[in-house]
Amino acid sequence: MTVNGGLRSTQWFGATGRAGMAHRSWMRSQGFTPEVFDGRPVIGIATTWSELAPCNVHLHRVAESVKRGVWQAGGFPLEFPAMALGETLLRPTAMLYRNLLAMEAEELMRANPLDGVVLLSGCDKTTPGLLMAAASVDLPAVMVTGGPMLNGKYQGTDVGSGTAVWRFEEDLVAGRMTQEECWFAEGCMARSNGHCMTMGTASTMASMAEALGMQLPYSATWPAVDARRYETAQRAGQVVVGLVLEDLRPSMIMTRAAFENAIRVNAAIGGSTNAVIHLLAIAGRLGVPLSLDDFDVLARDVPTLVNLQPSGAYLMEDFCYAGGLPAVMRELVDAGLLHAGAVTVTGSGIGANVADAPCWNREVIKTVAEPFQPAGSGTAVLRGNLAPGGAVIKQSASSPHLLKHRGRALVFDSPADYYAVSNDPGLDVDEDTVLVIRYCGPRGYPGMPEVSNVALPRKLLQRGVRDMVRICDGRMSGTAYGTVVLHVAPEAAAGGPLALVRTGDWITLDVPARSLTLEVGPEELAGRQAAWQPPAPHASRGWTRLYCEHVLQAGQGADLDFLVGASGHEVPKDSH
Ligand code: FES
Repeated sequence: MTVNGGLRSTQWFGATGRAGMAHRSWMRSQGFTPEVFDGRPVIGIATTWSELAPCNVHLHRVAESVKRGVWQAGGFPLEFPAMALGETLLRPTAMLYRNLLAMEAEELMRANPLDGVVLLSGCDKTTPGLLMAAASVDLPAVMVTGGPMLNGKYQGTDVGSGTAVWRFEEDLVAGRMTQEECWFAEGCMARSNGHCMTMGTASTMASMAEALGMQLPYSATWPAVDARRYETAQRAGQVVVGLVLEDLRPSMIMTRAAFENAIRVNAAIGGSTNAVIHLLAIAGRLGVPLSLDDFDVLARDVPTLVNLQPSGAYLMEDFCYAGGLPAVMRELVDAGLLHAGAVTVTGSGIGANVADAPCWNREVIKTVAEPFQPAGSGTAVLRGNLAPGGAVIKQSASSPHLLKHRGRALVFDSPADYYAVSNDPGLDVDEDTVLVIRYCGPRGYPGMPEVSNVALPRKLLQRGVRDMVRICDGRMSGTAYGTVVLHVAPEAAAGGPLALVRTGDWITLDVPARSLTLEVGPEELAGRQAAWQPPAPHASRGWTRLYCEHVLQAGQGADLDFLVGASGHEVPKDSH
């Protein structure tokens, strides 16, 4: 990125007088030799490392490899922390803070003397948060995700992080597993550094970053502890220096064509529904026109090629050894399903990057001709009087017999209300019931948590029922499964029709027709709407207040309204 013919960082480190002295002198307290201020590219390494975000805890070591690459290529690397969002610990949900990470990282990148950035992420929200930030600043950037954990191993079988949690919980409730076995199993799922190794949201978003062209080929799949993860990180350090010199920026890489590629790759890998929200938010930062309906239209002719949990059998380690994302993308390119010319951080098009990508295991990565699941089995977008702003359902994680379903609603205003009675043998529920869980949207919870796939009522689990239709304005973990309609918009807390459903109402779900219908007439609904009272605000101050007052609905990416768009990298005023 050049400014008046020089690198942006020379405004700081090349300055004369008191200001230049201040910029350089305090940096020299770290023991850097003076040559680092000779006008070479300054590369920020944004790391979301934290012991409170276990999926990202190894990123400080990944950063060391990036630094090697930056030094090798003649740059000056400087690591800095960005908000670490750990999916498993943060309350009420890490999603409440994705936009805060994006805002923090954006400001840090802009305010500091950086010419380019390497983005180190891993756990679910850190990847989209950093991509949103990089999009709004538009300095040359390369992402390096931390890589998945090794496969979980329990009693001789592979177990997937996240996905196994739901199964173990059901088995415990149904009496198929003891509490002692469950405690032991906890230690078997997450047994190495890295993010969840199912095709959950973290693996999905790592794949999206690669499909968008923002990280190097194979970056999404090398396990976190694999030497090639660190080799890739070193390569990324070299690459970003080149991007600075060529002035190849995120806005030139993450184009409409790149987003179309990402949406199609998401369908091919059986990726998380959370990709919908995150890709919409990233596109919003870039001014790329992208709508909820694009996800349905673009995914319809893409078969699922990857046989990974939660939709399939295998895990990310298997995916890596089978050939990783490039093997999938090669299939799609050869079938004419991707824009092969979409440029990436390698400087080449996606098609050139994957032209020779081999597949070593057709059990894990199938072909377009003989896919794992047929075209049109990915995420579907639903509309109807219950979701005028749209809703989504992950077909590949649903039960086929429930994709067309009519049932009576059983309504709860929170997951807690539901769980207070879900074990009651007298609960008036059967396998045809449609569970409605609401006030879980961006404003409602707040933060739109992954609570939508509530566990089935105990009496149904004990009868062997494994799935039922659930409808919610929240999200679902990418590691989860079930026939769950998600992201219903407008959400209940915004006065959407979901707030007007009453227990006993008939609801029809017709995924092939892409419809979600509340069988209540418009006059009755108007009466209910007039009587509806919005919930009390969650907070009178701080981030939660700002978030609730400005968050957009799920179908718009759930960014804050004033963060949509970009501000570039220029800061004309000096600090001294
Ligand atoms: Fe961090 Fe799953 S909890 S990726």
